[in-house]
Amino acid sequence: MQTSRSDREFHFTDSNFATIKALIYDRAGINLAETKKDMVYSRLSRRLRVNGLNSFQQYLDLLADPASDEQQEFVNSLTTNLASFFREAHHFDALKAYFSEHPDKKKFRIWCCAASTGEEPYSIAMAAIEYFGCYNPPVEILASDLDTKVLEKARQGVYAFERVESLSDQRLKAFFFRGKGNNSGLVKVKSELQDLVFFLNLNLLNNNWPFDDPFDIIFCRNVMIYFDKPTQYKVLKKFVPYLKEDGLLFAGHSESFPHASDLFRLRKHTVYVKATK
Ligand SMILES: C[S@@+](CC[C@H](N)C(=O)[O-])C[C@H]1O[C@@H](n2cnc3c(N)ncnc32)[C@H](O)[C@@H]1O
Repeated sequence: MQTSRSDREFHFTDSNFATIKALIYDRAGINLAETKKDMVYSRLSRRLRVNGLNSFQQYLDLLADPASDEQQEFVNSLTTNLASFFREAHHFDALKAYFSEHPDKKKFRIWCCAASTGEEPYSIAMAAIEYFGCYNPPVEILASDLDTKVLEKARQGVYAFERVESLSDQRLKAFFFRGKGNNSGLVKVKSELQDLVFFLNLNLLNNNWPFDDPFDIIFCRNVMIYFDKPTQYKVLKKFVPYLKEDGLLFAGHSESFPHASDLFRLRKHTVYVKATK
């Protein structure tokens, strides 16, 4: 059935939605529910305006060109990037516990694979600085995301003050500069934190991840919820060789992987270990 609400600025049919749903599934693994039609309309309408187009069909024609710059904008528009500092705080306690359980490790390699706007990798850096009591803790944090726009924001490390106001005064003082003048109302993470985090544009669906060495910890939080179970399984299977035998995989609070019990085993609340361990 071809329906399009007449109160809309652009003609948007069920068939347009079905094509978009298939495209974003193919490119990002994102499994859009039928209930997301209005969200898709509103997010992509902006792209139609930017490109001076009159209909979704024209927009889809533009996306048919694999070399079009719009490909990345399309993906960026359909990701959901909600993030916050020390979200699901128990994982940062588990991270510190991992540091203390492995005193012999010279360096901890940590991959934050859906880093969004940077709150998560910077929280990892803060937890490491707090645990080791210095600004150059033995950690390497790789922060990746599919969305280039959020990664740029993450690299800059500038946030509205409201995003950090729930942090303790001690953390605010230790890890952020407060903006003055034109920058009042903003905070910037200190360069010592930025120095610990390496940012990378990476699609979890891609087959060739550019890592030589496995990680001690993988933070994969609040991204699997956008994937269906077969995609989750494929990504989890690819994690296996990239996680050390004694490594941990952190998942989001509403994510669980009973369908991948041959790959990962739940150790405690949303913290997984390799099934072979
Ligand atoms: C809701 S945010 C999660 C942020 C952070 N991990 C947290 O838990 O606060 C989900 C992120 O997953 C990213 N994402 C979605 N599909 C992806 C894919 N195929 N590969 C890599 N990142 C993806 C999105 O761009 C978005 O920034």
